[in-house]
Amino acid sequence: GKVKITAGVVSQTCIATDIYSLILKAGEIVSQAVAGQFVSVYSKDGSRMLPRPISLCGIDKEAGTLRLVYRIAGKGTNEFSKLQAGDTVDILGPLGNGFMKESGKAILIGGGIGIPPMLQLAKELDCEKSIVLGYRDELFLNEEFEPYGSVYLSSEDGMHGTKGNVIDAIKACAVTGDIIYACGPTPMLRGIKQYAAEQNIRCEISLEEKMACGVGACLACVCQTKNVDEHSKVHNARICADGPVFYAEEVEL
Ligand code: FES
Repeated sequence: GKVKITAGVVSQTCIATDIYSLILKAGEIVSQAVAGQFVSVYSKDGSRMLPRPISLCGIDKEAGTLRLVYRIAGKGTNEFSKLQAGDTVDILGPLGNGFMKESGKAILIGGGIGIPPMLQLAKELDCEKSIVLGYRDELFLNEEFEPYGSVYLSSEDGMHGTKGNVIDAIKACAVTGDIIYACGPTPMLRGIKQYAAEQNIRCEISLEEKMACGVGACLACVCQTKNVDEHSKVHNARICADGPVFYAEEVEL
């Protein structure tokens, strides 16, 4: 189960504009964690601020460390970006349901700050993989995917890989597979859900972008699912508690 611990900072580096890679010593959480899960990271100013959910980019069971790659998006993440080796930070985890690993050739799709969790998934999946990464302009983490499969890039400005979005890259490069795993901004996931339905490919998506507190306290993450209760009312799911990974066909985007 989840535990709250005080984690030691091993290192932190800035890997792109406003994007940081934080390595934490977090033994008790590391031993249970799987790709697609996340931790909630607490501000030192804990009484006034809810924790921030950050997905796991790396889980190193041998070293007992977690790697979090996140973008500065407000006060909390700005505070985290100042952490240095030797500091400590309180974290709660592992949280949420990770990706369900299925058989068949996999297509891993990450967009923007949805890319980090796909790196741990690429390490855990023992199958043939195509990896499609979508960027606005500046690249990060892409080289780290290369040992795990064929990597295809898209960028909005066309400077890297296919000009356009991840679906444009999939079409341009004739990427095929039996199961899609995806994480990224909602418009991207909406496009992937539609593409997977058209192509009749199974599809798991992580809706982590919509989370706020990550611990069931704010209800900012509620989404509609196609499951209906006995009165045929719409069924709501909390992404942080019931996800963040869902089958695409199960959720309204
Ligand atoms: Fe706050 Fe789910 S993110 S309740």
